[in-house]
Amino acid sequence: MTGLPPGPRGLLGPLARFARDPVGAHQAFRERYGDPFTLRLPGMRMVVTGDAATIRRVLSLPAEAFTVLDIGSEVMGEYALIRLDGPAHAAARRQAAPLVMNPLRGDNGRVIQDIARRTFAEAARRPVRMIDLAKALTLEVILRSVLGPIDREALHRFAGAYAALQSRASFLLHFVPALQWDLGPWSPWGRIRRARAAVDRIIADAIARAAASGEEPLGPIAREAAVAGDPALGTEALRHQMFTLLSAGHASTAQALAWTAWQVFSDRAVLARLRGEVDGTNEPGRLVRLDYLDAICREVLRLHPIGPVIGRKLALPLEISGWTLAPGTVVGLSVGLAHTDPQAFPDAGRFQPERFLSGDRTPQDRAIPFGGGVRHCLGANLGLAEMKLALAELVRDWDVQLGDATRPAHRLIDAVAGPAGGVPLQLEPRQQGGAGQ
Ligand code: HEM
Repeated sequence: MTGLPPGPRGLLGPLARFARDPVGAHQAFRERYGDPFTLRLPGMRMVVTGDAATIRRVLSLPAEAFTVLDIGSEVMGEYALIRLDGPAHAAARRQAAPLVMNPLRGDNGRVIQDIARRTFAEAARRPVRMIDLAKALTLEVILRSVLGPIDREALHRFAGAYAALQSRASFLLHFVPALQWDLGPWSPWGRIRRARAAVDRIIADAIARAAASGEEPLGPIAREAAVAGDPALGTEALRHQMFTLLSAGHASTAQALAWTAWQVFSDRAVLARLRGEVDGTNEPGRLVRLDYLDAICREVLRLHPIGPVIGRKLALPLEISGWTLAPGTVVGLSVGLAHTDPQAFPDAGRFQPERFLSGDRTPQDRAIPFGGGVRHCLGANLGLAEMKLALAELVRDWDVQLGDATRPAHRLIDAVAGPAGGVPLQLEPRQQGGAGQ
């Protein structure tokens, strides 16, 4: 068959529904229209599938099968690796490789633990939202990884400029090119561009300071990029790469951590088993290899997909379930549908870390929280390490009272999916053997 599979009518309605419920919307569309179904988005047609075999096939296609999916590009910068294709994309990924290969190198693991410890201690004994703690924590971690040691004043400046950028960059503005008109400083897109420029100046300052001091190094990623990078790419490209890593690595890990806190502290049996495993272990290299801690993080990412859809724009025709899709079509791999496939994940609605401990490789092979193939998440190892080290600090030292015992709904927030309401809670010093055990 040629043309496009059926799907919901209208442009903004389905997109708004997806933003309100990024997991449930795909389930509802599939029930109504079958798999695959087409979403008609402003400026693009996305053919969405949750079929395991198709997902595996699409993710294993070579780079030449796709062209870049130019989303959020204005904000990221023209040399950002998510905007690059082919050899330039592969080269940009290689530059960031040190972080991918070993997020704990040097004293990075201890640094993450220290940041987590301080963040939790400063928030103790008052009502807070886990998402706010997690964002502060992941912002500091990613800034240190990318920019190097950073003083608190610069951190606050960056956090302020970055928060302004995010609060203005609503989902629709980011993802709908047709809305991206800069009509001056008061227009929505004009404000985003100016907020982006403010963030950019802070990154440029850090690069300039590092260059001028000759000694003060940039963080591991930027340093490596500066040394190994293509000299034709220069400072501007470095700035765009750094901004991409900051953006991609900050909100995603924060939402994952917020979910993790809710899942662990809403279930006494899970909490007790996890404490049994992490108590007495403080060495980052050992913590990240603990089985149950690992299974908890993987199950959180399965049940609560942070990036709910993985997009690939076709450069060549592709056949999917009898439909021949033309070049230019965007294939959407639905993470929510993949992660609720009953064949791979029986009783998929339940939080069950044990499914990753059974020795059966199916859950591991079928879960795609970090995408896959040529564009798989560059920071997967760092994201997982942050989740594990921060969670270990949290359960070891704190009892947590959740503000709401009902599992939060999924919402699209800052262009990723997270728990609606941000998980309100209060931290109290842990009573050994007490109520939180
Ligand atoms: C738990 C945390 C995280 C989750 C769930 C997550 C998820 C994802 C997903 C689903 C993608 C799309 C992959 C694809 O298209 O196949 C992605 C891409 C990406 N992520 Fe992450 N991510 C996380 C943390 C991070 C961190 C910490 C960093 C940075 C250090 C990072 C950097 C990136 C980059 C640069 C890309 C684009 C890769 C490319 O286009 O080549 N992510 N991530």
